[in-house]
Amino acid sequence: KIEGLALTPPMGWNSWNTFATNIDEDLIKGIADAMVESGLRDAGYVYLVLDDGWMAMERDAQGRLYGDPKKFPSGMEALGEYIHSKGLKFGIYNCAGSKTCGGYPGSRGHEYMDAQSYADWGVDFLKYDWCNTENLNAKGAYQTMRDALYATGRPIVFSICEWGDNKPWEWGTEMGHLWRVSGDIVNCWDCEYGHGSWSSWGLWKVINMRKDIRKYAGPGHWNDLDMMELGNEFTDAENRSHLAMWSMLASPLIMGNDIRTMSEETRITLTNKEVVAVSQDALGIQGFRFLNENNIEIWIKPLANDEWAIVFVNMNDEPVELNFNWQKHDMGDDLNQKFAHLDRTTYQLRDLYNHKDLGNTSVPLRAKIDVHDVLMLRLKK
Ligand code: GLA
Repeated sequence: KIEGLALTPPMGWNSWNTFATNIDEDLIKGIADAMVESGLRDAGYVYLVLDDGWMAMERDAQGRLYGDPKKFPSGMEALGEYIHSKGLKFGIYNCAGSKTCGGYPGSRGHEYMDAQSYADWGVDFLKYDWCNTENLNAKGAYQTMRDALYATGRPIVFSICEWGDNKPWEWGTEMGHLWRVSGDIVNCWDCEYGHGSWSSWGLWKVINMRKDIRKYAGPGHWNDLDMMELGNEFTDAENRSHLAMWSMLASPLIMGNDIRTMSEETRITLTNKEVVAVSQDALGIQGFRFLNENNIEIWIKPLANDEWAIVFVNMNDEPVELNFNWQKHDMGDDLNQKFAHLDRTTYQLRDLYNHKDLGNTSVPLRAKIDVHDVLMLRLKK
């Protein structure tokens, strides 16, 4: 694969969660404009990814893909130019199978030709799905597309969208820059919706389902917990928790809401640079569950310069009073040999959502946390 890309979890926006296949030129340009005007681009969200539904239903006479002429009359290259003119990067979607999940032409048997089309259009990111892949070997199919992208010479981030059955975390580092770890998430806190042979997963379902694969994540290769549902009918508290957890888990931060019409509170959450800095920390270590005390989930993540992020999530249906005695907790990440000896070392506390200093770890931390809200802190010596 092309090395040196996605050294921190990719950030951006993807059309699927809100628009499904109902995408067109005006919408995408409007999203690009909104990414700039809302401050999202400057907060780090730079990839604008068109998901399924961008292409014509058939290939052209030479077998090449092209944009649906009704939806994208100016063509994909012009769209890419517009996206780049806004200081953003251009992402696109296809599938390893004969057809995409939405029934559009898949890349099977056309990998090199399609990769070259993307490179010609200025594509910077490819999400590559897993529908209609009968008799294909997953690792091999992603390897073919990886090699096709490599052959173009263009630095294209390769986003693997297999849903976990073939354990993409075991081979994803070699093939791409990020890989989905589950089926699609859905905008609920902790539900599961069954659809027969597959399910959609609430936030905490997917978090809990894949708690043992953190060792596979690191700079250039990430566990992808799916595009965020942040801003899609969650409470403001749940939105804060969503961003906090995706940041702690070093998951890509790909928005899936309509950023043209989002609330001011949602915008403030998404553009919170102190929270995003936890996601984008240079070490690229995926955080993990440290404790669960009285139904408060406590997650920690080692950061560069011997700093730490810690998140307290109130899983209860009522507000809670947190009373946390730092000195009784020795924090450690054996996998990465990172330790914070809170019994002997005092750390300063920074509240990342409220942008204020909260004293230090020599005294117990007391705070009220609302229903499904978080307290997210950075610990510094
Ligand atoms: C699959 C993927 C989704 C989305 C759709 C498009 O379900 O998991 O993220 O790309 O296909 O059809």
